[in-house]
Amino acid sequence: MSAQIILPRVMQVGADATKEIPNILAGLGCTRPLIITDKMMVQLGYASIIQTLLNDNELNADVFDDTIPEPTVASIQAGVEKARDGNYDCIIALGGGSPIDSAKAIGILAHFGGTMRDYKFPRVVNEAGLPVIAVPTTAGTGSEVTRFTIITDETNDEKMLCVGIGFMPIAALVDYKLTLSLPQRITADTGIDALTHAIEAYVSRKASPYSDSQALAAMKLLAPNLRKAYHNGKDEQAREAMMLGATMAGVAFSNASVALVHGMSRPIGAAFHVPHGLSNAMLLPSVTEFSIPAAPDRYADCAKAMGIAKETDSVDQANQKLLQELRDLNSELQVPTPEQFGINREHFLELMPTMAQQALASGSPGNNPRIPSDNEIVEIYRSLWT
Ligand SMILES: [Fe+2]
Repeated sequence: MSAQIILPRVMQVGADATKEIPNILAGLGCTRPLIITDKMMVQLGYASIIQTLLNDNELNADVFDDTIPEPTVASIQAGVEKARDGNYDCIIALGGGSPIDSAKAIGILAHFGGTMRDYKFPRVVNEAGLPVIAVPTTAGTGSEVTRFTIITDETNDEKMLCVGIGFMPIAALVDYKLTLSLPQRITADTGIDALTHAIEAYVSRKASPYSDSQALAAMKLLAPNLRKAYHNGKDEQAREAMMLGATMAGVAFSNASVALVHGMSRPIGAAFHVPHGLSNAMLLPSVTEFSIPAAPDRYADCAKAMGIAKETDSVDQANQKLLQELRDLNSELQVPTPEQFGINREHFLELMPTMAQQALASGSPGNNPRIPSDNEIVEIYRSLWT
């Protein structure tokens, strides 16, 4: 059995990678970039830093800064029109997962037309749209190295998963210095998202030796540094490890898929507007507990890679330590329960069967080592309230 591995054509990784953007564009033969970002990146001055770098090399870049968190069909429409009418030859996607996901969708829609629903999974989008050069500013989503984007259909709150080489950025500039000013909450939520990517890719039924190597390396970097980056955002060593770990976790799950945590997390995000990393964090301990019996050795490997179990620990000891660590991490990083987040209990309980169906339909639970039934998903959702 062989595994197909899909990666960006160019990755520039490390301190000040951003400064290489003119060289990257030159290497790709691109001269008319559109920067797709959000208002926060403009406010922090990151968009103008890139514009200045390009100006110094006699290149001009327009800016579209109207992307929103958890992008919707409507939110990307103006970007599609701007990209289509502006005669651009590439997109620079600057920001967290949402601007990068928006840019991927805009790159396809501006080039081929149609609506986002036309490109939803199970269709696989292998056509090449406008090339995307991704510059992440969070250490989390891995969107800079994945062949996925998620756009919400606001008419029915469905998070549409879109998949294919067409959504893989052509280049990724992974510069941890852009994460030094990330607020504490975003550091925690995106960091747990990255750790979840690594764990889910490693236990996924689609894992391969290649994705395993990326996932284990990511866990080694992420687990010991997440608390450090959370408590001291200026800790450059921790930020660098988190950024590299998040990108490697992105490579792992782009090629091995995520599993039950993500499958169950998307419906919570869509229905109750919980940030993606946070709904993952709420679910990670319960889903891990549910899944361990089907892959105890794999979860024990995770505990050892994360540095919380010793090589000499038994599989069972390592699994117990993993569960304890995931719970401790949530409490130290102040991850709220659904109740503390302000979700109405009755509304949540009422929606559980629908959310379970949406989770199963996404396909992600089918990658889990223990494939849940409808009812088992409902019971895991219920466990978040006990
Ligand atoms: Fe994620």
